[in-house]
Amino acid sequence: MTAGLVIAVDGPAASGKGSVAARLGAAYGLPVLDTGLLYRAVGVAAARAGADPDDAAAAAAVAGTLDLMALDDPALRTREAGELASRVAVHPGVRAALNAAQVDFARRPGGAVLDGRDIGTVIAPWAPAKLFVTARPEVRAERRWRQLTAQGEAVPLEDVLEDIRRRDARDGGRADAPLARAADAVLLDTSEMTIDLAADAARRIVEAARAGR
Ligand code: DC
Repeated sequence: MTAGLVIAVDGPAASGKGSVAARLGAAYGLPVLDTGLLYRAVGVAAARAGADPDDAAAAAAVAGTLDLMALDDPALRTREAGELASRVAVHPGVRAALNAAQVDFARRPGGAVLDGRDIGTVIAPWAPAKLFVTARPEVRAERRWRQLTAQGEAVPLEDVLEDIRRRDARDGGRADAPLARAADAVLLDTSEMTIDLAADAARRIVEAARAGR
């Protein structure tokens, strides 16, 4: 356990940020929160309730009653869930409903790793170590396509690339807490890296941040 170390990992869909966050959590003995799951849970719950994900009030109402214990539902990992998540995530009422749990997680006395879109900018701008993980859209699309295929979701690669581009535009273009690299976040482009190489590079970035370099 590394006392008080908080690591913010942000980046676009399928950039490798989830894998990097998981590896950092294991390396430092820190709990990891994949904050995308919270937005996915709201999107899926809204759809199940027959609510319109683009309706700000309806989506915020769903977010306010979210069961945070149900984040291991495989339905949250689908292509549809990612799209629903991105749509509900534009509403300030949804983000407000989810922020406190994320801030609490970041403030755990033993430290934590959080991955998402706005961890270094909004949830934990004070985090001592921040990474912005990215990769070329074509590379991200292929990774996501492999994941979806492995979980039995057959979808053409070009459709996944289109999803990625649409989500990048929506997540980066929204007014409230858009996907953005914090000024003090270190850029990690994983386009040409395996997970092992990306994890090693991430670890070096965290070590440099801890050393104040
Ligand atoms: O990381 P992910 O692909 O599971 O995230 C799904 C969507 O949730 C993403 O397209 C935008 C939204 N999201 C967000 O707005 N803020 C976060 N901190 C995490 C995810």
